[in-house]
Formats: sequence, C-alpha cells, structure tokens
Amino acid sequence: MATSKKPDKASVSGGIGASVRRVDGPAKVTGSARYASDIGVASPVHAYFHTSAIALGRITAIDEREARALPGVIDVMTWRNPPGRINILPLGAAQTTMQPLQSPNIRHDGEIVALVLAESYEVARDASHRLKVTYDRRSPTATFGDKGLIAEDAVKADPRFENSVVGDAAKAFAAAPIKIDQRYATPAQHHNPLELNTTVAQWDGDELTVHEPSQYMVGSQNALAGHLGIDPAKVRIVSRYVGGAFGCRGLGSRVPLIALAARQLQRPVKLVSTRDQGFTLSTYRAETRHRVQLAATRDGKITALIHDGEEVSSRPDSYKVGGTKMTARMYDIPNVASTVTIQHADRNTPGFMRAPPEVPYMFALESAVDELAYALNMDPVQLRRINDAQIEPIKKLPYSSRSLNQCFEAAAAAFGWNRRNPRAASTVDGDWQVGMGCASAIYESLIASSFVRVTLTATGATVEVAGHEIGTGAYTIYAQVAAERLGLRVEQIDVRLGDSRLPPAPVAGGSNNAASISNAVAVGCAMVRDRLAMAAVADAKSPLNGRDPKTLVLVGGALKAPDGPSETLAKALPRVGGVIEVLAGNEPKGTGPGSLAGLRNGRVELIGGMDGKEKIKAAFGAEFVEVRVHRRTREVRVSRMVGAFAAGRIVNPMTARSQLLGGMIWGISSALHEATEIDHRHARYTNDNLAEYLIPVNADVPDVEIIFVPETDTDVNPLGIKGVGELGGVGTNAAVCNAIYHATGVRIRELPVRIEQLLELEGRTGKT
Ligand code: MOS
Repeated sequence: MATSKKPDKASVSGGIGASVRRVDGPAKVTGSARYASDIGVASPVHAYFHTSAIALGRITAIDEREARALPGVIDVMTWRNPPGRINILPLGAAQTTMQPLQSPNIRHDGEIVALVLAESYEVARDASHRLKVTYDRRSPTATFGDKGLIAEDAVKADPRFENSVVGDAAKAFAAAPIKIDQRYATPAQHHNPLELNTTVAQWDGDELTVHEPSQYMVGSQNALAGHLGIDPAKVRIVSRYVGGAFGCRGLGSRVPLIALAARQLQRPVKLVSTRDQGFTLSTYRAETRHRVQLAATRDGKITALIHDGEEVSSRPDSYKVGGTKMTARMYDIPNVASTVTIQHADRNTPGFMRAPPEVPYMFALESAVDELAYALNMDPVQLRRINDAQIEPIKKLPYSSRSLNQCFEAAAAAFGWNRRNPRAASTVDGDWQVGMGCASAIYESLIASSFVRVTLTATGATVEVAGHEIGTGAYTIYAQVAAERLGLRVEQIDVRLGDSRLPPAPVAGGSNNAASISNAVAVGCAMVRDRLAMAAVADAKSPLNGRDPKTLVLVGGALKAPDGPSETLAKALPRVGGVIEVLAGNEPKGTGPGSLAGLRNGRVELIGGMDGKEKIKAAFGAEFVEVRVHRRTREVRVSRMVGAFAAGRIVNPMTARSQLLGGMIWGISSALHEATEIDHRHARYTNDNLAEYLIPVNADVPDVEIIFVPETDTDVNPLGIKGVGELGGVGTNAAVCNAIYHATGVRIRELPVRIEQLLELEGRTGKT
C-alpha cells in the first residue's frame, strides 16, 4: 500500500495552494460520471474490428459469407468496400499515417482489416471471428536485433530537431582520466488505461458528434475533420471524463472509420475495442537503445558526455522522442555530443507515453552518472552537486529556476542517505541484500495559449474551456484559481471541460495544462473584476464611487476597496446586467503571432522547456529508493522511496502529490515490471493482456514519501506554475537500478530488471 505523509489537511474549499478534494470525486466514486461509452445513444450499431493475423504482406482473399449470414449483421466493411476515403494527415493530433481499409496491404500486426457492424456487440464479435482472411505473408522486422531495420537520423527526419552539441566531446572523452562507456536499453511499454479505446459517432445531418476519451479536444476535432475532408465547425468531440490519458488519447485511426460508418449507415455507431486491440490500435512507448560515454576529472568534474540514442518506429512514420535535449542540459558539462537515430520496423506507430523522452533517456544518463560515481569513489549525490548547472551548457541559457540541489538535500535527509555504507554489496538483513540508490528527475515546464470563458453571477461563477480531466484534478484546480480570483468558495465555481464547442484549450500533453489553463482562468477573472470595478466606481450610489478601479479586489463574495468600503456581488452585479460573461484569451509571453487563433484550427504552440529563448524552463526532483534483493532467489523488492520535487507554485498539494506518487509508482513499474514482449518472427506483441503485462500491485508498492520543495518562479508564467503530471516518473527506473547495484554489485542496464539477468550477470546460471 502506498502511504505517505499528507502535505496538509484536505479541505473542500480554498484557493491556490490549498489541498482541495477533487470536485469530481463524488461523481467518479458513485458512478454518475459518464465516460464515452456510457453515453446513451438511441439504437446504435455496434462495431467490432477484425485485425490482421500478420505484420507484413497483403490480403489475398476475404470470405465474408459465414459472417454475413449471421442474424443481426448489418455490414462487413473491408478495403474492398470501405465506408469512405480517409485523408492522411501528418503526425500530431493524428497518431499515425497508416489509415486502415484503404488497401489490401498490411503494414503491422493487428492492423484493422475489417469493420464488422451488427445490432449487438456479441453478434458483431461473433461475425468478426467467422471472417476468413487469407494473406500473402512476408517476413517482418520486429525490433532491435532483427534484419531489415532502416535507420534514419532524427535531424534528417525532422529539421526542427537539433542534436545538442557543444565543445569537442570526443577529444575531451579521450583525454579524461576517469570514464564510463556503457549501453542501456528500455523496452516497449503499452498504454493500458482502464477505459478502453472507445468511440461513439453520431451524425445529425452534416454535423458529427463523437464521444471518446480525449486529451486533445480541439486537435482531435480538427484532425477528424481533416481526415474526413469536412469543415471542423461541423465536428464536435465530447469527453467530460477520461479513464486514463497518458499520451494515447489523441485521435486514433479507429475514429475516422467509425465516423464514416455512421454516416454511411445513417445511424450512430459505437465501438468498444478490446484490451488486446489497444496494443495495436493505439500508440505505445517504443523500445530504445543508448550508448552513454561520460568522462570526469579525478575530483568529479564531468568533462564530456556523448549520448547516442536509438528508437524504434513504424515504417512510414518518423516518430521519435529525442531525449538528448534533456540529458545534454542536466549537468554543467563543457563538451557534449549527441545523436538520435530512428529505426524503422514493421510496427504500428509509437507515440507519447508519460514523460516520453525523459523516462528512457534519463534512465541511461542517471545510470551512467551512478556508474561514474563508483568509478570516482564519490557519493552520487555529491557528484550531481558538483556538476549542477544553473546555466545549461549547450546554448548557455540560465534555467529560470532550478532547485535540484535543494531537492537532493530534502530527499536525502528524509530518506536517511547518510546511513548508507558507500560500498556496494555491503549491507545485509537476514536473507536480503539491501541497497540505496538515487537519481535526478527533470521535466520541461511548458505553456501554451488558451481561451477560457468566465461567467459571474451573484451566486457563483462558471468556468468553461475545452480542457481535459485526464485524472489529474483539472476540474478542481481551475475551480481553485477562479475561487481565489473571484473571491468565492470552490463549491461556488462550476467548471465545464471536455467539449470541443467550449473555448479552445491546448492539448493535455507535456504537463502544460495546469499552467496554460490556470493562467487563462486568472486572466478571465481579472477581466470580470475590471468590468465590475469600472461600473462600481462610476456609480454615485456605490460605496466604491470614485475609487481607483485597479485597487479593488474580489474577496468574500464582495468587491472591496483597500481602505475598507465594499459592495456585495448582489449589489454590484445588477449594474452590469446581473451577470458578467467574458471570453478571455491568454497568450503567454514568448508565443508567436497567431498562437491563440491557431488553437481554433487545432494548432498548439507549446513554449518554454528546453527550447526557451532567453531561459530554460523545467521542474526538477530527486528520487531515492531502497531495494532488498533476496540472497538466493534474487527477487527484487522496493522497500522505500522518497521523492522531493520543486515545480514552482503547487496549485493543489493533494492532487499534485497524487501525480508525483503515481509517477514514482510507474517508475517502479518501469524498473521491475513493465515490458511488452515482442515475438521477433511475427513482429507481434505476445503479452497483450493485463494478466501478462506486468504492472505493480499494492504489494509491490512500499511507503512512498513525496516532499514539495518550495520554489518561486514567475518567469515561467505569471502564476508560477510548473506542471507535475510527468515529473514523478522520471529517473525512478535509474534510482531502482542504482539501488540494486548498491545492494548486490550487479549493474542492470536493460529494463525491466529480471531475476534471470541478475543470475546471469553474477555467473550463477553457468551460461556466462
Ligand atoms: Mo503526456 S505523454 O504528455 O500524456
């Protein structure tokens, strides 16, 4: 069970900084929260996908007779009779350029080859199983180690991608007295959100409404319109609640297909795809390989870093995460060289998954830093301290704030790092070898423009924005910002999210929404206050008559002057018609022209992070892990974890803690459990179910303590918010492996850690 000290007492109300309970909590626990496939539509047609049994080749025949003969079957749509043509769009809101049912060619395992439509789910599924598809199969390339991978340089694939390079890393590496040159590997991981990949599409004339889990309302709206070749204004996406959105809730290729089928049949169509289909219909975190070379002087000054990363992608799509831009800037290293190579294979296109670049790339760097610490005979915390970078080495830009050292201090103290015997394999407790390890966490602090509508009445306010509640606490924190700025209680604020007809917001990705939308809410509330104040000061009957409107504040349900006089909302509002409604658009400093307007077309300009123009912006953390490795079985258990994080202003410590806690637990998963197994002969995922796809359960999760390190940063945005959605899961995997090394003296460089790896590296299997 994950337990931890609560940061402060939970409450049901309060402004920015209060631990307010989730306002949507009761709806979720009582079941009144409606998810996409819970939405009732009148007599929908049920869809079921038949997916390919091969990864590469072509369909030579489809025998549909038995399927079509089943009572209740409405249609079977294949490449011969697709529901329509689907325009290919570049990656972005669209997750792949491989659109199904457009040709007999098969490009990855589990590609959609037929859409079976029936009066019930059961009949559609039964009919799907009765289809007989014959293939001309070719031998696919699955992943690293297979013949047929085609390498592509990330810079060639994407001219906006820049290899981080400074100084002469090769020369500095060659000249250094202490060096590490190692290879690291991370596996494929698949999204398994509790809510399956579902889509309900319904047409009303030429207007399309789609209910589906989304973390990118306006992106999906525009991408779907683009796929179908229709006006985006005719497309509405609705997604009030999402059962998990960790990067896979952009527009999947299933959606245009379902929309087209609904148009052709002139009936709503409902799809609830299966758990195993989620592995191939949706995106995933791709396998990566790394070579990291680190060199240092004898007193621990790192002089060179060479980081070469490789990532698997599909044949047509050059998807990559390119985490070297983070690893190159983590420490103050004068000579850095890095490359990123995309390896194309016969796979579905990978995509975002929580801290996409940082999780694999920081595993490599933070493992190598630990190895360097042992080579130097130096405390790994001390090594990181010596090489702290307040100014990043590549472009020599300062971090707007970077409290990594403070995080290490706070976490080390809480963890009891000083009790650690620095020697590896030095601590035993009965049959268990005990080890302690640590690693740094980093996540870019990003922000985008956003609209928001704020409506104030005498009894409360409404905040409307096409934002997303992906489980992070969005409904709650925007209510807190509005409550504080409008002088109301949280329960007086009605936040409405999850409908593309609401004012456009950026993608819920890159942990930007807390910053982007909260700042927009603050701007909207300020506009409301301005209007109320201007009217009050101009009215001879108001106690605020003649005051400077700029000095008036909304507090306790009233408009107040600093010297005392005040007027309740009930008195002040009738003057402006009883209600104030504003549409605010916030364009953060540094966004380009048209960044707000672009939102309406589904374009999101995320600024900040490593691409800052004057300053680099990121949140940091220090994570400490204790592991116990059984002397005989080599079973690894994480027994304690402490993470300290500095992420600017924390809007709600309770929901933020929950994000960081979840991230660190995912970090245990990344280190010890989670991997998609791939059959190399068939380029097929073999553990595509929750029985064999391992994730940590309560018994795997020990005491986890989350510490917030206070940090004030108004450079990052006026409210000083850095996102925490993805930060917690960064570096944890390395901290676990570093702790395993400390416990056993065995260095695991390939995730996840397996008992057989420990045995093999110790030479206990007789294989080595
Ligand atoms: Mo995320 S991978 O930005 O949901």
